[in-house]
Amino acid sequence: MLACVSCSKNQPAYRPESTVREVMDSMVEPNADFLWGAVSTRSTREGIIEKAPKTDEDWKELREHAISLREATNVIQIPNRSVAKAGEKAGDPRIELTPELIQTMIESDRTTWARHAHELYDAVGIYLKGIDAKNVDAITDAGGDIDKACEDCHRRYWYPNENKGQSGSVRPK
Ligand code: HEC
Repeated sequence: MLACVSCSKNQPAYRPESTVREVMDSMVEPNADFLWGAVSTRSTREGIIEKAPKTDEDWKELREHAISLREATNVIQIPNRSVAKAGEKAGDPRIELTPELIQTMIESDRTTWARHAHELYDAVGIYLKGIDAKNVDAITDAGGDIDKACEDCHRRYWYPNENKGQSGSVRPK
């Protein structure tokens, strides 16, 4: 029988080649934006324009983005994923921690990292319940929970010094 020499016993065969930064930009942010953009009110000269999911197709599409966002919280927990590519810097070093420091924080306490990922997972779970009930108010509220989960993690790992920077409480990017 052929042994799989490259897979040591009980090691999952994950290939976490993309960075946390890339997963944020490619999976987390675009799907969260889709969810946040699903309900809106705009006042125009023609009156107030309300946007909300209406058709079964609208709800189905929204659900696909919510599932993608929720699964991205598992992706970022895969061990041995780099925060950024070698040589990539913090956007605003007055406010943002370096990717190296973020990496050390994650690896020295994976429980806290997982707790923050789960906060987002759970917030998207509430959003999904709202989708299944086709309840616009529920998804609007859950959108706030999602935003809070992003912020809670970012304030811990990415820009814990945001209030010390010259730009005050303005968030990077
Ligand atoms: C479990 C922690 C965690 C959660 C939850 C999280 N992020 Fe992040 N995010 C990070 C970390 C760490 C970085 C900083 C990586 C770096 O150095 O750029 C980051 C960076 C980003 C970036 C910048 C990427 C770049 O190119 O520099 C964006 C955009 C972003 N997150 C969006 C979001 C949004 C939107 C949410 C919520 C829907 C979210 N994140 C939730 C940890 C998290």
